Amino acid sequence: MSVELATRDECAVMTLNRPEALNALSFEIMRQIGVAFDEVAKTKARALIITGAGTKAFCAGADIKEFRNRTLMQQKRGTELGQRTFAKLDTLPVPSIAVINGYAFGGGLELALACTFRLATRNAKMGQPEIKLGTIPGYGGTQRLPRVIGEARAMELILTGRTVDAAEAERIGLVNRLVEGDPVEAGLAFAREFTGYSLPVLGFAREAVQRALDLPLNEGLKVECDLSTQSFQTKDSTEGAAAFEEKRKPRFVDA
Ligand code: CAA
Repeated sequence: MSVELATRDECAVMTLNRPEALNALSFEIMRQIGVAFDEVAKTKARALIITGAGTKAFCAGADIKEFRNRTLMQQKRGTELGQRTFAKLDTLPVPSIAVINGYAFGGGLELALACTFRLATRNAKMGQPEIKLGTIPGYGGTQRLPRVIGEARAMELILTGRTVDAAEAERIGLVNRLVEGDPVEAGLAFAREFTGYSLPVLGFAREAVQRALDLPLNEGLKVECDLSTQSFQTKDSTEGAAAFEEKRKPRFVDA
């Protein structure tokens, strides 16, 4: 298997393991990623960490060697498969964290953009170089990149295909943080900042923020009102307020 799924502490860890091709996304790897996301949804994991095997790459993008001799329909199905697979992260019951440990180009950056959070090691390099191949991002990049870094910067990166280093990625908000040391350990340390909270309430918060990017303000505020009201129906919100008054740590039960 080129996509490995393991459990570390309370987290699922998915590793793209095809270092000889810089973890490029063949159709088979994309299929395995989809299966892995479905598996994670069935486990008790409280976060998903995604990283790449080897020291050079998170993921160098779609497998360019599979591009040749594709019919229009095969191309369309490939793009749809990539979009559908990465969209599973939106509805995954747990937040996802991409730890970008080297190159993240094309579909590799699009995978990271579909995650809830992005961390990067100091040697990370990112970009949407599809324009250099005579094509454009197809696994969500044209839609998610502007939502993450704004239209002007996204337009520049997609039209020039230029590479962004780790420091710039942090400065423009493409990644949440730069991290040192082992990528999985860094992902676990980041996950521990939220895995103690109520999983359904984390889900409400994720949904509210995701919807903010799609809706006019008034409608977004209604969505927030609904989700906030739902959060007050949980046992965990009762427990959170009780723990505050009793000056103790809350014991959340994910309900
Ligand atoms: N697809 C298939 N194979 C790839 C690959 C890719 N995206 N990226 C790297 N590889 C392979 C190389 O062909 C090479 O294999 P061989 O040893 O068999 O020749 C191996 O991985 C190592 O790569 P390099 O020798 O090129 O390593 P490098 O350190 O010199 O360069 C790199 C690294 C700058 C990332 C360079 O490999 C590169 O530019 N890769 C392509 C990046 C790219 O354009 N990605 C976008 C793909 S298109 C896409 O993703 C479309 C979409 O939106 C869905």
